[in-house]
This record gives sequence, C-alpha cells and structure tokens, in this order.
Amino acid sequence: MQQPIVAGGSSVAEQLREHGLVLVNGLHSREAVLDYARQFMTLVPHRDSGPDSLTTIRDIGQKAQRPGLAGLGAGELAAHTEGTSICEPPRLMLLVCLQQPDSGGEVVLADGREVHGFLADRYPGAVEVMSQPGTAYYGDGGGRPSQIFTRHSGGRISIRFRQDELAQFSPVVQHCLPHLREAIKAQQHAIALSPGQGYLIDNSRYLHAREAFSGPRFCVRALGEPRFPLRPGFGAGGAGSDGRRTA
Ligand SMILES: [Fe+2]
Repeated sequence: MQQPIVAGGSSVAEQLREHGLVLVNGLHSREAVLDYARQFMTLVPHRDSGPDSLTTIRDIGQKAQRPGLAGLGAGELAAHTEGTSICEPPRLMLLVCLQQPDSGGEVVLADGREVHGFLADRYPGAVEVMSQPGTAYYGDGGGRPSQIFTRHSGGRISIRFRQDELAQFSPVVQHCLPHLREAIKAQQHAIALSPGQGYLIDNSRYLHAREAFSGPRFCVRALGEPRFPLRPGFGAGGAGSDGRRTA
C-alpha cells in the first residue's frame, strides 16, 4: 500500500512522476482548489463543469441513474480512470472534499503500476490480452475502441478502464476481467477525506473509486493537462522509479 504524501509546492511534479499520487490538504473553498489546480495544470472543461472548469461532485438524485452519471449519485463507484470515452483523457485529476457526508464516501485509489505488476506476476496471459488494441470500447454508441493497458515507446504503460454501462469488452477480455478486479481489490486503499483534503493523480496511472455514502457530501474536481513534463503512465515491472519491483 502506498504511503500518503502531502503536497509540497514544487515537489508536486516530482511526486507525480514518482508516485502518480499527491495527497493535498488545506483547500477549503472552490477558489482555493482553483488556485491550487492552476499551479500544476491547464484546466480542461468537462461536460458537467462550471464556467471555472471545476466540476461539483455531489448527489443529484434520480438523474445520477443515467448512464455515465453514477459519479453524481450517492452509490458505490467502481474503480475507473477519468475520461475513458474521449480521444485523449485528461492526464491529471484533482478531487477535493469541501463537505463530508454523514457516513461513507471514502475515496478508493489503486496504483495502476501495482495492479499491472500483480497481474504480470499471476496472470501474464491476461495482461497480454488486455494490452491488445481495440479490445475495449468506452462510451456511447458502441464506444470508442481502446484497450485496458496501452504500451508506449520506452516501455511505459498507461491504464484506461471503466466498468459501468458505458464499457464493453471483447469476449477474450471479458474472461480476464475477474483477474483485473482481483488485482485492483488487492492494491486499492480507501481514504476518508475531511473538508479541505483531496488527491491529485496521474489519470494514466491511477484508478479511482468511491464508497457509497449518505448525507451532503460535496467535492470539487479539476481535470487538466500538466504544466510540466510527465511521461505517460508508469514503467513496467511494478513499483520503484527505476522499474524494479519493490513489492
Ligand atoms: Fe471519476
């Protein structure tokens, strides 16, 4: 399990490169979140975002039952990466809690490098299948052809995954999904966010999820592109910046 990391100014870029994750604290307003996000990313608007390009994440009731809107409900949200159905998903995602729910609502994070390493150790054939282009389809109308793991030059690997009604998979990948879910479950960890706390992740590396909740949970989310060089995804071979597995 990855140890929590608290954001520290210029080290944010290094922490994202090394760990893919930065935990943040002390952001108690929408304006503070916006100021913080702008330090590290060029914001990208989302379908549900406001004029400031931030998206309010709260329970909107019945409308959240529509396909692709589960994030705006109060139910459990399965592990996924953001923006799977668009051509180039945003590289960075910042989510900050401004109001805690009465119960539940923990965020659940899984490092794609650890997930990939878990699979490579136990189910190498499944990794191969899930890396074949055009075996996953994300979005409306049959979906955009993609794959769960994308191999880049230099041995880098990125992850793109969702498991709601807007995800379809080729039959051969369907057989691998239980292994992937096992790997995610083994690697994920839950964090209860207090007001002002949140996380910044490399969306090509980290999966995020949410526990069900009750009460007025209120978060804001920023999506964007990094203002600093950031290679895609993670190095193959498990944890460790030099590619060595570190269990
Ligand atoms: Fe999400």
